[in-house]
Amino acid sequence: MCGIVGYIGQRPAEPLLLEGLRRLEYRGYDSAGMSTLADGQLRTIKRVGKINEGLAPALAATPLPGSTGICHTRWATHGPPTDANAHPHFDQSGRLALVHNGVIENYAALKQRLAKLGHTFRSDTDSEVLAQLVGHYYDQLPAGNGDERLVNAVRSALGEVTGTYGIAVLHRDHPQLMVGARRGSPLVLGVGKGENFLASDVNAIVAHTRDVVYLNDFDVAAITRDNFQIHSLTSGAVSRQISHVEWSADAAEKGEFAHFMLKEIHEQPQAVLNALRGRINHEESTSRFGGLNMTASQLREVDRVIFCACGTAWHAALVGEYLFEELARVPAEVEYASEFRYRNPPVDKGTLVFVISQSGETADTLAALRESRRKGHKTLAIVNVVGSTIAREADGGVYMHAGPEVGVAATKSYVSQLTVLALLALYMGRIRHLSAIQGQNAIRELEAIPGKIQQLLKQNDPIRRIAEKYQHAKDFLFLGRQFNYPIALEGALKLKEISYIHAEGYPSAEMKHGPIALVSPDVPSVFICPRDAVYEKTFSNIEEIKARKGPIIAIATEGDTHIASKADDVIYVPPTADFFYPLLTVVPLQLLAYHIAVLRGCDVDKPRNLAKSVTVE
Ligand code: M6R
Repeated sequence: MCGIVGYIGQRPAEPLLLEGLRRLEYRGYDSAGMSTLADGQLRTIKRVGKINEGLAPALAATPLPGSTGICHTRWATHGPPTDANAHPHFDQSGRLALVHNGVIENYAALKQRLAKLGHTFRSDTDSEVLAQLVGHYYDQLPAGNGDERLVNAVRSALGEVTGTYGIAVLHRDHPQLMVGARRGSPLVLGVGKGENFLASDVNAIVAHTRDVVYLNDFDVAAITRDNFQIHSLTSGAVSRQISHVEWSADAAEKGEFAHFMLKEIHEQPQAVLNALRGRINHEESTSRFGGLNMTASQLREVDRVIFCACGTAWHAALVGEYLFEELARVPAEVEYASEFRYRNPPVDKGTLVFVISQSGETADTLAALRESRRKGHKTLAIVNVVGSTIAREADGGVYMHAGPEVGVAATKSYVSQLTVLALLALYMGRIRHLSAIQGQNAIRELEAIPGKIQQLLKQNDPIRRIAEKYQHAKDFLFLGRQFNYPIALEGALKLKEISYIHAEGYPSAEMKHGPIALVSPDVPSVFICPRDAVYEKTFSNIEEIKARKGPIIAIATEGDTHIASKADDVIYVPPTADFFYPLLTVVPLQLLAYHIAVLRGCDVDKPRNLAKSVTVE
């Protein structure tokens, strides 16, 4: 959470930093601030609220001069959102400014120590303690070493810190230098011509350069406008490869859409195509992958799969469990990454662990990956963001290629994860018992999914009308069975996170064991009830709710007129194989949540209290 951007070059820093910060606002948006360096002075503006409410108008009134600057958008961890708690933070002298993404776990002890030395604090944040600590070391070091003094002060301070950080530091007396460092929070160095950048995500800088260095944990970068040098905190100078970002800045623009979420919902046919591209082997009726780093015979030895993820990615993992069991007959389990990291489950030699993450930076998922690898388990990742920490630390894996997802609510990344999981299950099935005909059938169905999603998106208007009808409900139930039980969970999560309506997802039959008590004419139930093997069973559950006067919205298969006799509203999806219905049934639920949230006046792309990338545990 939190986003940072830094710039050192020849152009005016302020507009460039502000534009970058806007692109990072999905990472946190309770306050924002900026410092620039010019004429031997640090000038700063910090404001509570979203960028357009606080920082941007303040900058318009009082522009910040200079061609070097740092800025930050905050998701509060220590101290409430206030102007004072917004970043940048300063050392005791006020000559050093620092922006920080992460959590300094031992900040209380460090603060106490610094207070005894006479430091006074202006905020409640852990980040200010780090700024003051760097300043403390700076004052201890001899003058005369040029820029090395600041770099060494940063290194000494970070040597004392436990926790996570991605930082950018400026000092009034070192106008040609910006220092960046990371541990546990993402930080990318953008390499330009006569200018260089730092950012939490390439999104922020891709309009200016596509050449980037993904910094590693413990890297400390000394950056001037023409050069950069990277040192490891634990050893000497290190060299890091420059990577080229494949997508352009347009990919992260809203275009004709009112919100990123709506745009990303509409990008789902393409997201599925991208995930499939180059991965179907028609001749062998199977799939193929470039980066698993495991041979077919090693994968044949796998006798259990554990999926670890958080949030929507966890819901994708649940579908993955069904797919692996159905297509590959491999026992699969799903763990919340936050639980897995602290549990000590017996995992034997034949167990393969998959972590799933759009951002590749989620703190709990990263920790689960590290825990799994520490115990010697082969750990693969399904990740969207290229070069992210999870992508780099996994033993192998599959990129989703969904393109940048900016809306805080995950949409296209979800269908992309489902597609990759379907391909993996197909592969695992084909090296076991799955016949060529079964493989061909699965491929045919999978390749038809993008067109079917496209067809589904045409129902945007009817879905908006359903949203109008139910927009004032205070509670919703989402119910589905088997492959569509995870979709019930995902539908409920989408609705609650962007519209703030209380929603619960349950396996349809489980509803009788408690949630049915909530049913009333004011509580709509959304049933995901396609024509699959459990259709009749789910239909009986619809009858049970109807008997108690609960309104029903059904997601059903085209041509199912029977369901219209019971449901108050029906949204139809095209037919597909039972195990691929989740790729279709989730789409109307995303649109329903979107329209309800818009009708209720919610900020769909930046829901309250949330951030896109949860980099704290
Ligand atoms: O980047 P990740 O896929 O690891 O993120 C996991 C969750 O934080 C994320 O899916 C979250 O639940 C979304 N807000 C859901 O829409």
